[in-house]
Amino acid sequence: MKIAMINGSPKLGKNNSGRLLKALEPLIQNGNELSHYKVNKTPLTEEQVQELCRMDVLVLSFPLYIDAIPSQLFRMLTVFEEYRKQDQEKDIYVYVILNNGFYEGKQNHIAMDIIKNWCARCGLHFGQGIGQGAGEMLDFMEKVPLGQGPLKNLGKAMDRLAQAILTRDSGDPMLFSPNFPRFAWRISADRGFWHPQAKKNGLKKKDLLRRLGE
Ligand SMILES: Cc1cc2nc3c(=O)[nH]c(=O)nc-3n(C[C@H](O)[C@H](O)[C@H](O)COP(=O)(O)O)c2cc1C
Repeated sequence: MKIAMINGSPKLGKNNSGRLLKALEPLIQNGNELSHYKVNKTPLTEEQVQELCRMDVLVLSFPLYIDAIPSQLFRMLTVFEEYRKQDQEKDIYVYVILNNGFYEGKQNHIAMDIIKNWCARCGLHFGQGIGQGAGEMLDFMEKVPLGQGPLKNLGKAMDRLAQAILTRDSGDPMLFSPNFPRFAWRISADRGFWHPQAKKNGLKKKDLLRRLGE
């Protein structure tokens, strides 16, 4: 099968959507042809969008932005839709890997529905999707094997997603939080991620809590 691995993160450097695609790759690469696409820097070329119309499977991996889809990916989806109107020949299956910043992976349900509706508009089959909460945690987990410790739920969901892709099967979305207590995630996210990010951008901890207009 020809499988497109589409990274929808707007980040220019390493990103969690890319990490999740990398985790899926060894589970589906045997006997299949995988091609990689990114939408962060420049829009896909006409040729690349036409290639997507000839795939057997599209895997969309992206972060939740304001309960929805980042604009770069949204643009790609609308351009694809136009090309697809002219090229309906292929039976294409779509699988989704979402990740979000809040702890609860169930927050991804609206973005998942947006992709389901897009599939219906384009005449694509929606296969299955997963949604990982506390996505920024993945940056600190590169040495943790998939399926272990905080990545236990992710490991199980990835195995099921890979199985669905290989058999071009459909199933209910799997939305989950990490196997890590919520309070511990809040503390470690503040200390390990948000506070250093604020410092890097010339802000103090208290600036993060300031409301607009104060
Ligand atoms: C503009 C913007 C909007 C976001 N909106 C949400 C949101 O609505 N809900 C949420 O849980 N996380 C939200 N996030 C957090 C991202 O989903 C999270 O940081 C994710 O892990 C980034 O993944 P990436 O590294 O693949 O880009 C938002 C982040 C940004 C920058």
